[in-house]
Amino acid sequence: MTEINSVTTLTREGDVDVITLNSPPVNALSANVRDGLFEGFKAAAASDSKAIVLICDGRTFIAGADISEFGAPGKPSASLPDVQNMMENSPKPVIAAIHGTALGGGLEVALCAHYRVAVPSAKLGLPEVALGLLPGAGGTQRLPRVVGVENALEMMTSGRHVPAKEAASLGLVDELVEEGKLKEGALAFARKCVAENKPLVKISENNTKLEAAKGKPEIFAEFRKKNARKFRGFDAPEANIKCIEAAVNSASFDEGLAVERKLFMGLMTGSQSAAQRYYFFAERTAAKIPDVPDDTPLREIKKVGVLGAGTMGGGISMNFANVGIPVVIVELKQDALDRGLATIRKNYERSRGADPAVTEKRMSLLTGSLDMNDFADCDLIIEAVFERMDIKKDVFTKLDAICKPGAILASNTSYLNIDEIASVTKRPQDVIGLHFFSPANVMKLLEVIRGEKTAKDVIATSMKLAKKIGKIAALAGVCPGFIGNRMLSQRQREAQKLIMEGAMPWDVDRVLYDFGFPMGPFAMSDLAGLDIGWVKENSKGETLRDVLCEADRRGQKTGAGYYDYDENRNAKPSEFTENAINAFIAKTGKNPRKISDEEILERCIFPMINEGVKILEEGKAIRASDIDVVWVNGYGWPVYRGGPMFYGDLIGGPAKVLEKMKEFQATMGDDFKPAALLEKLAAEGKKFGDLKG
Ligand code: 3HC
Ligand code: NAI
Repeated sequence: MTEINSVTTLTREGDVDVITLNSPPVNALSANVRDGLFEGFKAAAASDSKAIVLICDGRTFIAGADISEFGAPGKPSASLPDVQNMMENSPKPVIAAIHGTALGGGLEVALCAHYRVAVPSAKLGLPEVALGLLPGAGGTQRLPRVVGVENALEMMTSGRHVPAKEAASLGLVDELVEEGKLKEGALAFARKCVAENKPLVKISENNTKLEAAKGKPEIFAEFRKKNARKFRGFDAPEANIKCIEAAVNSASFDEGLAVERKLFMGLMTGSQSAAQRYYFFAERTAAKIPDVPDDTPLREIKKVGVLGAGTMGGGISMNFANVGIPVVIVELKQDALDRGLATIRKNYERSRGADPAVTEKRMSLLTGSLDMNDFADCDLIIEAVFERMDIKKDVFTKLDAICKPGAILASNTSYLNIDEIASVTKRPQDVIGLHFFSPANVMKLLEVIRGEKTAKDVIATSMKLAKKIGKIAALAGVCPGFIGNRMLSQRQREAQKLIMEGAMPWDVDRVLYDFGFPMGPFAMSDLAGLDIGWVKENSKGETLRDVLCEADRRGQKTGAGYYDYDENRNAKPSEFTENAINAFIAKTGKNPRKISDEEILERCIFPMINEGVKILEEGKAIRASDIDVVWVNGYGWPVYRGGPMFYGDLIGGPAKVLEKMKEFQATMGDDFKPAALLEKLAAEGKKFGDLKG
């Protein structure tokens, strides 16, 4: 065995040279890895072997470029194209042996091998689009040459990790080898290449698959049209599409590469990719809690109890059934339980690609009951009953009496005080908030609320469990609304004020939609229903909501709310709403004024950022990036703007936000009072991103 460098070895297996990479955690293409590959292939090319296998140790094949190196000054090292040229031009067959994931630059390296073998559990993809990028090492030119233009369009704009079996059917993998026997399979394949004198396939030289799309611009036009909604606001999908167009229309491979390079650099230096790369690490950092060590022993969660089978309880239960954890769901009355279970079944049956056998298997993991004593053997119980402190206290008193020692008692409350809830139990250390978002089986975010006395292993178990059920967890401290809803209430307040000053609901919605949110606050209210929490008997017609609800304009479900809706639920600005708003303004004796889009955006966003700073100041969030994780995953903040705190830095940092808050405070009062920490950050010339916890 020859040690090429600290992460690369070269070994000889009979007449085959094996280059092995070992650069944990994911064999990303750092400078060291590139150097190792370059020197390894150089040595193997010069040896008397007959073939070369590239394989990786650890959990995965190369998972891509090293994202942490982007934007940092590079140290002198072999470039990726240097490595790729060395592989493609090797005088003997090069075989990439893939397990785990071959992603981004990792797949681009594999595409420069003459052949690819993989174990069935492997996945391959070009996920650069998710980082606001495009494959910048020839991937945009090679992939369509292998899988054809339409498959390449789908793969590159979705970033999907394609399972090996599908990859084999697309021609991306030449042979599937037995699970756990990658090296043996790759060596056998290499020897077959030698014995059969198989050609040294250079993907860059084969244009056959591009022919079908030549002279057919409609393929691209239709693809753009079909995906316009999905791609809205993002720069990277369009740049990826342009590269594939260039592959089809360029006179040569190199000409296509030049287009790729130019568009790649454009994205790499832009703010969207900076935001999306930041966000990649933000999500992973959110799982790390400074005072809860990574190796904290976890509590075992083998059975879950859910109290309440309403909107949230049902969705929460699905998350556990989906990963094979049995759930007991307890309700007050049989009809509510039946309704809850029927809704779960309907959700399974209606989900995309639903398989009846899978639905039955999951349903069989759910047991309904009207008796809380059935929680006695559960390891985690999540309460999702009505949002009232007296009811929460009552059920936690009961849970304390029923549940076994060591069971985690969680509340899904969206606002209430977890410490107060915990105080009625004799085990506040076992109580935590697990704030799921609606629909709970779909939304990625889980806000984990740490009470004053919550034990560290309860926190660690909750964070790990979140990952297991496919959620992204962010830790918050106890305060009204925690991170997400606390900041949202700032935006809601301003949205309501704005429409009482002269902006219309559709103006506010349009500005926030154009910013990148999936919808604005008023369209959202119409979707959720304006009558949530509204009681007809208590209505005095004093608010716009009273007036709308009394007119039976309760949202989309009644065909009208802030907006009018046609039979296809398309929203139109409403004269009724406009008149109602104007009547309210008239009552105040003020005149409606013209409010600019800029003001709408700033008044909705700056107080949110300021509130985020207060949350950090009070220690209710660990770091600014956790706040961004909450907003991107739970509230539709456009990921290409990184999250409110990243955005704050992007547009000028604390100094700029402070200036705006002061300006608004001077004319509109203390809703805009700057946080003390905001003043401090601005005075010290710091960024929000410096608040790292
Ligand atoms: N660069 C640097 N670090 C990376 C990385 C990368 N490409 N991919 C993963 N990591 C790090 C993570 O930050 C994490 O670090 P931590 O343990 O310190 O938090 C660690 O590796 C493990 O990652 P995950 O927690 O995400 O582990 P999973 O097992 O859940 O997932 C994965 C593994 C599927 C490989 C996932 O990490 C992933 O999707 N990585 C990104 C893949 C990617 O986007 N590749 C393309 C990069 S851009 C590119 O190649 C440009 C080229 O075209 C020129
Ligand atoms: P819901 O009204 O749809 O469901 C509550 C269910 O709990 C009802 O079916 C009711 O019969 C049942 N219930 C009430 N008391 C009970 C008891 N003592 N024992 C057993 N079952 C009981 O309410 P929803 O929307 O599911 O909310 C539940 C909790 O989740 C609340 O705390 C809410 O704040 C929180 N939440 C709600 C979100 C939403 O968007 N709806 C989002 C995030 C959290």
